[in-house]
Amino acid sequence: MPRSDTAHPRPVWYFSEYAPVGIDLGSKAAVAAYDRNQGTDPQADDTLLDRLGVSDGTQLVDLACGTGSLAVQAARRGAVAHGVDVSEEMLAFAKARADRFGVAPQWHHAGFLDYTHQGPLADAVTTKSALHQLPDFWKQQALLNAAGMLRPGGSFYLWDVSPAGTGVSRGEPDRAATDDRDVVVGGCGCRHGVSLRRSSVSPAGDLGEGAVEGGRQ
Ligand SMILES: C[S@@+](CC[C@H](N)C(=O)[O-])C[C@H]1O[C@@H](n2cnc3c(N)ncnc32)[C@H](O)[C@@H]1O
Repeated sequence: MPRSDTAHPRPVWYFSEYAPVGIDLGSKAAVAAYDRNQGTDPQADDTLLDRLGVSDGTQLVDLACGTGSLAVQAARRGAVAHGVDVSEEMLAFAKARADRFGVAPQWHHAGFLDYTHQGPLADAVTTKSALHQLPDFWKQQALLNAAGMLRPGGSFYLWDVSPAGTGVSRGEPDRAATDDRDVVVGGCGCRHGVSLRRSSVSPAGDLGEGAVEGGRQ
C-alpha cells in the first residue's frame, strides 16, 4: 500500500505525521497488545454506527482507524468503509480482522493531514482517540480536511482524550444539545465526544475561520 505522502509530497515545514510510527505501535506484537488492552468492542462500535445512521451504502471514513474495528463493523452492515491510518502495522491488523469477517473496507496508508478522499463524499467521518497526536495548529488543518471529505449534511464524530479538568464539559454523559448543531458532549472531565453536521465548511485549502466556524455551527 503506497504511503500517501509519497504521492502528495509536502513542504519541509509540514508536520510529519509518520514520524511517531515505530516508536510505540510499530510492531505486530505491539499492535496485537494494543488491540487486546484497549478492549475493542464491536457492540460499542455498533452503538456509534447506529447513532450515525450508518447502514447499507453509507460512505464512512474512519480517520486514524487503528486496528479497524469500527470500519469493519460498518462494512459488515454494508457501508462503504474507509479506514485511514499512518501505521502499516495497524492497517495490516485491521485488514486481517476484515478478512476474518469476509468484508473489505478500503484501507489507506495516510494521515489526518494528507489523506485525500476519492470517490463520493462521505456521509460520516469519524475519529477516535487520535486527534490529540497532532499539535494544535495541525488539528485545525485535520478538521478542515475532514470537513472537505464530508457531504453537506454529513456527520462528523470526534472522540478524544483531553487533560483531566480541561474537558469541554462536566455535564451528563451524552447530553444532547437542543440546537441544530447536533453537538453531543459526554462530559467526564477528561474525555469528550462531539458530533456535528457539516453545513458550510469549505474544503481544506486554507486555514483559519473555516474550522472554527464549522465547529460552532
Ligand atoms: C490510540 S489509537 C486509536 C485507534 C482507533 N481509532 C481506536 O479507537 O481504536 C491511535 C491511532 O492513531 C494513529 N495515528 C497517529 N497519528 C496519526 C495521523 N497523523 N493520522 C492518522 N492516524 C494517526 C496511530 O497509528 C493509531 O492507530
